[in-house]
Amino acid sequence: MTLHNNQYLLSNGVDPLLLAEKYGCPLYVYDAAIIKRQYERMVNAFDVPQLRINYACKALSNISVLKYLHQMGACLDTVSIQEAMLGLKAGFQPHEITYTPNCVSLEEMEAAVELGVNINIDNISMLEQFGHHYPHIPVCIRINPHIMAGGNAKISVGHIDSKFGISIYQMPHVLKVVQATGIRIAGVHMHTGSDILDPEVFLNGAEVLFKIAHQFPNLDYLDLGGGFKVPYQEGAAATNMEDLGPRITKRFQQFCKEYGKELALVFEPGKFLVSEAGILLVKVNVIKTTPSTMFAGVDSGLNHLIRPMLYDAYHHIVNISNPTGTPRVYNVVGYICETDTFGANRKIAEIKEGDILAIKNAGAYGMSMASNYNARFRPAEVLVHEGKDYLIRQRETMEDILRNQIEVDVMQTALV
Ligand code: LLP
Repeated sequence: MTLHNNQYLLSNGVDPLLLAEKYGCPLYVYDAAIIKRQYERMVNAFDVPQLRINYACKALSNISVLKYLHQMGACLDTVSIQEAMLGLKAGFQPHEITYTPNCVSLEEMEAAVELGVNINIDNISMLEQFGHHYPHIPVCIRINPHIMAGGNAKISVGHIDSKFGISIYQMPHVLKVVQATGIRIAGVHMHTGSDILDPEVFLNGAEVLFKIAHQFPNLDYLDLGGGFKVPYQEGAAATNMEDLGPRITKRFQQFCKEYGKELALVFEPGKFLVSEAGILLVKVNVIKTTPSTMFAGVDSGLNHLIRPMLYDAYHHIVNISNPTGTPRVYNVVGYICETDTFGANRKIAEIKEGDILAIKNAGAYGMSMASNYNARFRPAEVLVHEGKDYLIRQRETMEDILRNQIEVDVMQTALV
């Protein structure tokens, strides 16, 4: 009976309850069909000769997910040398990987050069150093368009006080550095934030980028970043890609005509591709009532999904053990030694101890931001594809907690 009621959660009628039973909780489950659907929505929305979707792998960096996106035709956006290496391991060619770091050392940039990936530079100091050492390597520059956008302050990154990008007002300085070093600017990039609903933000951003792009005569591509909104609340609005796509396409084609060259149009979505594909399955350990609140305490916490605690983000929660039960009001909380509330005052079908809850929209920035706080193991991960489930990361063990720790008994050592 539960199979039928939970059918809507995963494609092909795969029952998340059976997965919870088979692999245990807490468990991240990703639905490949939703990743595919989202990828295809993007590809179909932009009608340009050269479209490149760089998946922002910080959102979910499991190697099997990377492989899956690569097979569909995605390229990769990386922000650290380790992400770039992960991309190569997953089968991306160096030219399919873009490295967009912030505040890294020249040494790490040099390591990226060694890997042969595309380089994106987000400050003038680095552009100058890099241009001095590698004048023959074309680079992209990240501009700061001075646009305030994004779901909350922590994920708004394109405003004037942000640490990201080179101010649009600093282009005269950039041009001097380009001239002095002889480096070629092959791409211009911006990313204003995450969880952005308003299409005007993307359109206005594009206008800013077009203006800047005219100052660089030898470009190959324009990168408009990521940040598309997903519906965290049931029924909430999300980026209407089918509306945005044609509007950007039209302006981009006009721009290319004025510029005199057919450039590639690049995006780097994270959330849009993987957020809705993921659920976090957790088991209810304790039902506890206080004078004000009924708590459902689960076997997970801010160590596994920190978004609700860090950003006050809303994640919809359903009881998959009793999906048609009478709704009651709960605070769903974790087992960590500080307040870690997944959802407060939520109407959820009546919960009993032992029930399994599904926390939705957990595909992006869930597992990739997980930690071992309280020395807890990080969850296992499962990818569901065409009705089959694949374990793509095993649950951690005590060995993982102890790995790299060096046991030194300082008192004993001092005595010797
Ligand atoms: N490009 C750049 C340069 C980025 O910094 C990011 C995200 C993206 C693309 C992808 O953004 P998306 O399409 O996923 O919104 N942990 C936060 C989000 C942080 C985003 C950081 N940069 C959260 O859970 O909301």
